[in-house]
Amino acid sequence: MTPTNNAWSKSSWKEFTALQQPLWPEQTEVDRVLADLSQLPPLVFAGEIRALKSLLAKAVRGDAFLLQGGDCSEDFSKITAPKIRETLKVLLQMAIILTYAGGKPVIKVGRIAGQFAKPRSSNTETVNGIEIPSYRGDMVNRPEPIEAARIPNPKYMMKGYNMAASTLNLLRAFTKGGFATLQRVHSWNQEFVIQSPMGRSYERLAKQIEQAIKFMETIGIPTDNPQITQTELFTSHEALLLEYEEALTRVDSTSNGWYDCSAHMLWIGERTRQVDGAHVEFLRGVLNPIGVKIGPTYDLDDVKRLIDVLNPDNEAGRITLITRLGMKKIDKVLPPLLRGMKKEGFNIVWSCDPMHANTYTAESGHKTRNFNDILSEITCFFETHWSEGTIPGGVHFEMTGENVTECTGGARNIIDEELHHNYLTTCDPRLNAEQSLEVAFQIADMIRS
Ligand code: PEP
Ligand code: CO
Repeated sequence: MTPTNNAWSKSSWKEFTALQQPLWPEQTEVDRVLADLSQLPPLVFAGEIRALKSLLAKAVRGDAFLLQGGDCSEDFSKITAPKIRETLKVLLQMAIILTYAGGKPVIKVGRIAGQFAKPRSSNTETVNGIEIPSYRGDMVNRPEPIEAARIPNPKYMMKGYNMAASTLNLLRAFTKGGFATLQRVHSWNQEFVIQSPMGRSYERLAKQIEQAIKFMETIGIPTDNPQITQTELFTSHEALLLEYEEALTRVDSTSNGWYDCSAHMLWIGERTRQVDGAHVEFLRGVLNPIGVKIGPTYDLDDVKRLIDVLNPDNEAGRITLITRLGMKKIDKVLPPLLRGMKKEGFNIVWSCDPMHANTYTAESGHKTRNFNDILSEITCFFETHWSEGTIPGGVHFEMTGENVTECTGGARNIIDEELHHNYLTTCDPRLNAEQSLEVAFQIADMIRS
């Protein structure tokens, strides 16, 4: 059976092979949690999902730019007001930098409020000679490297829902309640960044924006409108845990369509995007914008089939292809992909994830990524699109507002030996606030020229 010749329902994915699912110790509790989840209110509203899709349709044409970013894996113990605020601040700063340089709206999508489930390359890992189950994200088990912490617990799905709801509640308050007003553009700069070269570049930009607003006020253009005083941040996560996603999938009473109301945008990972797999079957039936990760070993016909299944009407804004090819391979493997998709006439938002194929293990044993590698993948992404006549529509980062030392390089040139100073991620290494600003300024230079 392939996912096109059967009738879709929110549970039809169960007829297909679902990779990367937790091995729950027993089913009764899982079923109880899922039944409870399916009665709880949706986290997002279908109208918001449609609004995001029409913004993404603009990014297909090059009239908007997608900025997607946040934790690799959100950590329940870090869901506090200051941490949510700091991540939001950096996303707002990056968006301002890119809007100012690119002269087009930036669509802000967080890897936030639900990024709690992780695919892993192996079911187990060996810690101090003992084999224990792999950590699969806070919605499944705990990261501590001991057997007891790694036993999947279905109650964590309920906790994930509640954590997503409280994160989203605060994000909505910050984005609509005055915190994100352009009049406060200076205040998004963070204490520990202000004195750095990136912080100073940001201050200069903030000053220009402040002057522009003052000028508008002087000549009598009102600045107390939502375009100035509010912003919009959409949520996204990898749709990995299909039981959870199914429980949050609802019919929209205004349009009668099915929406996965766990987040505005969902993506399918590199490891679960089999055309005849359960993840593709599930996502083909919900109307959310869908991201698809594409790694360097993709098969062109396979990608075409995937798009046909997920977007049979070629609706613009439905599909974002997030290429994560690696700085060593991108110049060879991106051009044939772009040509192949262009030939089919597919409407695609092309986004660059310069993180996932540039990971290496430092001598200290820390999983890391180097700032220059990240930058070279981004540079090659833009240049390839320009030379192929396709549109570089967005970027996708693992990043945080915290002052972590997880990726090497950047203006402060973090070296391998310094990674242990503040290495906090439970999964992949993230850009810190300063490195995130730096990458935004670098992209700004590219899109301005
Ligand atoms: C991720 O985005 O955290 C991830 C696991 O990515 P990928 O599926 O591209 O490896
Ligand atoms: Co990751």
